[in-house]
Amino acid sequence: MIDPSRTSVPVIAIDGPGGSGKGTVSTAVARYFGWHYLDSGAIYRVLGYLAHVKQVSEDDVSGLVALTHNLDIVFAEEGIFLDGQNAEGLIRTEEAADRASRISPIPEVRRSLLQWQRNQARLPGLVSDGRDMGSVVFPDALCKFFITANSQKRAERRYKQLREKGFDVRIEQLLREIAERDERDAMRKASPLKPAEDATVIDTTEMNVDDVISTVLEEIERFL
Ligand code: DC
Repeated sequence: MIDPSRTSVPVIAIDGPGGSGKGTVSTAVARYFGWHYLDSGAIYRVLGYLAHVKQVSEDDVSGLVALTHNLDIVFAEEGIFLDGQNAEGLIRTEEAADRASRISPIPEVRRSLLQWQRNQARLPGLVSDGRDMGSVVFPDALCKFFITANSQKRAERRYKQLREKGFDVRIEQLLREIAERDERDAMRKASPLKPAEDATVIDTTEMNVDDVISTVLEEIERFL
């Protein structure tokens, strides 16, 4: 049980590269505890989508920052809602992932989204999923995980996910795109993709999702 004298909102930070299974694990953990859920990757995806439809270029830093000021985003069971509309179909494509990965290195954009993300920490608690949840956004998180898997396995999982959603994708192309995005996410100066020093690293290459979820839940129980 959570200590009732605790004054701050407990946060569980779950970071890792795309296709590692961190999204599935994070939503399962949030559901298990009945906590709020922050999918920070979805915010960068929404921003990439908005920039595209409003024709704000990737070099227009102030234009991109302006887009972050009035984000009307709600996370619900059915997915992310943008301006009251379910935006899942718009932001889960590989194109949207690519746009997100191009604008997310911009320090001004990241800075502008920082407080918005922190405001999502509400009682009874928050499970936050992303790349820099434990290292930058919630450095005081109750516990931190870095979930990873080799790129072949991540491409296979993405392939399955996207096929199930009806997208026509090829595994070789997904593998190439994943490698490119990994490189971009890891090499950028602002919040590069790497485990927080105090994160528990879990390599899920040879694990099934239920095992990952129980490993994470067991670890969290040690902190509650
Ligand atoms: O987790 P995802 O695939 O939905 O993330 C999409 C992109 O957003 C990814 O290329 C990296 C970026 N991202 C980020 O820079 N910081 C986060 N906290 C989450 C995602």
